[in-house]
Amino acid sequence: MPAHVPAVTLPGGRMPEVGFGTWRLRGDQARLAVREALAVGYRHIDTATMYGNEGEIGQALADSGVDRSDVFLTTKVRPSDVGRERVVLRRSLRALGTDYLNLWLVHWPPPRRADRHQLWNELLAIKAEGYVRDVGVSNFSLPEIDELTRSTGQAPAVNQIDWGPVRYDANVLAGHAERGIAVEGYSGLKNTRLGDPVLAKIAAAHGVTAAQVVLRWHLEHDVTVIPKSANPDRIAANFDLFGFRLTAEEVSRIDNLAASRPRGSRWGG
Ligand SMILES: NC(=O)c1ccc[n+]([C@@H]2O[C@H](COP(=O)([O-])OP(=O)(O)OC[C@H]3O[C@@H](n4cnc5c(N)ncnc54)[C@H](OP(=O)(O)O)[C@@H]3O)[C@@H](O)[C@H]2O)c1
Repeated sequence: MPAHVPAVTLPGGRMPEVGFGTWRLRGDQARLAVREALAVGYRHIDTATMYGNEGEIGQALADSGVDRSDVFLTTKVRPSDVGRERVVLRRSLRALGTDYLNLWLVHWPPPRRADRHQLWNELLAIKAEGYVRDVGVSNFSLPEIDELTRSTGQAPAVNQIDWGPVRYDANVLAGHAERGIAVEGYSGLKNTRLGDPVLAKIAAAHGVTAAQVVLRWHLEHDVTVIPKSANPDRIAANFDLFGFRLTAEEVSRIDNLAASRPRGSRWGG
């Protein structure tokens, strides 16, 4: 793993704080984009059973010549797969061309409480058997996480949530930190108005793009970020985040972009 990329320590290993998102990348486009991402230095790939691209990601990994042990691989199980967890895991492992995952996430909370518990218990059992280094959740609120933790005594290692400047909520970050849960943010570029004058001014001060400022802002908050791009130039630029840092004042100006948000964050209590 490149030494200059910050990483979060999870119970089962280290997760690079910049990963490559793959939602909506399919077929050859997925294979080529992941190969490009690995070539420019990404060592963390985010996928899901639902994305239908695990096979292409496995192919890109095999083609890249990068050691499996140097890559942090995340996939996600759908709530509708409750009761079929082992079948789904076997398929994901085969498609990805590996015998273990670094992180397996519940993609979103199953509506029924009994299903939430069953899925979580099964993930914990599979982790204990060594097929998965860490298990976590996605799109869970803090009360939903507390319910899982109460039922099993084991908290998720990660919660992957919709995040970005306009979603910023200090209480959500504090709530996860108190519970020892790493926050991974998704759709941070998509949900940001990249032409916002606050971002443009900060970007100009550092000689970078507004997108790079948004991604760097995640890192300043210790939030793992997983930008997706199908474009080789943007794939490279989104990983080129280690030659500058934002000042505390710049971070707080970006945090304040959330002030115009009409509703509170849906991830809090
Ligand atoms: N757990 C969940 O429920 C969940 C939900 C959504 C996403 N995710 C994960 O999070 C990843 C990231 O989220 P996302 O794909 O929704 O959104 P994103 O990465 O925030 O944004 C992707 C969009 O931004 C464009 N883009 C990429 N780099 C750019 C740049 N430097 N400047 C301007 N535009 C840029 C991309 O277009 P081009 O491809 O043309 O560059 C694409 O349209 C996903 O791929 C997936 O792995 C998880």
